[in-house]
Amino acid sequence: MKKIILTGDRPTGRLHVGHYVGSLRRRVELQNSGEYDEIHIMIADAQALTDNADNPEKVKNNISEVALDYLSCGLDPEKTNILVQSYVSELTELTFYYSNLVTVSRLQRNPTVKSEIQMRGFNASIPVGFFTYPISQTADITAFKATTVPVGEDQLPMLEQAREIVRSFNSTYDEVLVEPKALLPENEICSRLPGTDGKAKMSKSLGNCIYLADDPEDIRKKIMSMFTDPNHIKIEDPGSLEGNTVFTYLDAFCKDELFEEYLPEYQNLQELKDHYTRGGLGDVKVKKFLYNVLMEELSPIQARRKEWEKDIPAVMEILHQGSIAAREVAAKTLSEVKDAMQINYWK
Ligand code: TRP
Repeated sequence: MKKIILTGDRPTGRLHVGHYVGSLRRRVELQNSGEYDEIHIMIADAQALTDNADNPEKVKNNISEVALDYLSCGLDPEKTNILVQSYVSELTELTFYYSNLVTVSRLQRNPTVKSEIQMRGFNASIPVGFFTYPISQTADITAFKATTVPVGEDQLPMLEQAREIVRSFNSTYDEVLVEPKALLPENEICSRLPGTDGKAKMSKSLGNCIYLADDPEDIRKKIMSMFTDPNHIKIEDPGSLEGNTVFTYLDAFCKDELFEEYLPEYQNLQELKDHYTRGGLGDVKVKKFLYNVLMEELSPIQARRKEWEKDIPAVMEILHQGSIAAREVAAKTLSEVKDAMQINYWK
């Protein structure tokens, strides 16, 4: 069986370093591993509209922003098909047919939907499109017969529901769809990088994100005001690593080789941590190091972004071609789905 990846992002803002360690970095590795027959990355604009119906400009403007982030991180359109969800209208047809196989109570039990409804304060005014987006996401995944879906932990209930729909479809009609498997980030730090304020999650509304495209000077400021150990007041005080955002970021980004260049008194992160917990190591020194570590990773990304930014029409054309290619794949699956359902009358 072919190994096929599908994953995506809602275009509601630029991508930040949490997206980077949680998924972008991994996608580039998967792309370059050569282990996959097809890789599709979707800019899920239609899904973004399920809770931004009154703000289409935001969604539209962020399509090219997200594409720029993808390309600058190293996703290569020669190897990875980048597509825009709304262009592939077959996905909405699939969604409509799949929705007959899902009950309202099953959707209500989906933990991701539940917590997102709460987060957005929808209460009794949940848009139907939003409520049913797990079904639409199943269409995204199955249209490409994806075997592997790299996602964060928060998306596991979505994958579970997708697998259920696939099983239900295949047993009700015919074995057409493929059950996808989630591929989680390698470790816990990468799956939930906290905001610069130490809060659980980076979010635009909390203003605690470092964006991939942030100006280096802004990144420096954000790092310098990062949450550390509030009881580590004097340099001599022993510091705690627990919930210390600067060290969490180092866990996600630091490589041993970088000590030689930026902090030669230490060989590796463990030595730095030991000194910090013993006392005698100030926050500013660690923060400056983190800035260098982060910029080591972000500088090449930012340089590539600057190049792509000069030619937005070319970026949009990559998305256009990717969407056309995606549509062909999705149309084939839709036709098989209709065959199985015995409604492909005029094939
Ligand atoms: N729900 C995902 C998010 O919140 C985006 C997404 C849309 C997606 N369709 C997908 C992820 C299909 C994986 C597979 O970012």
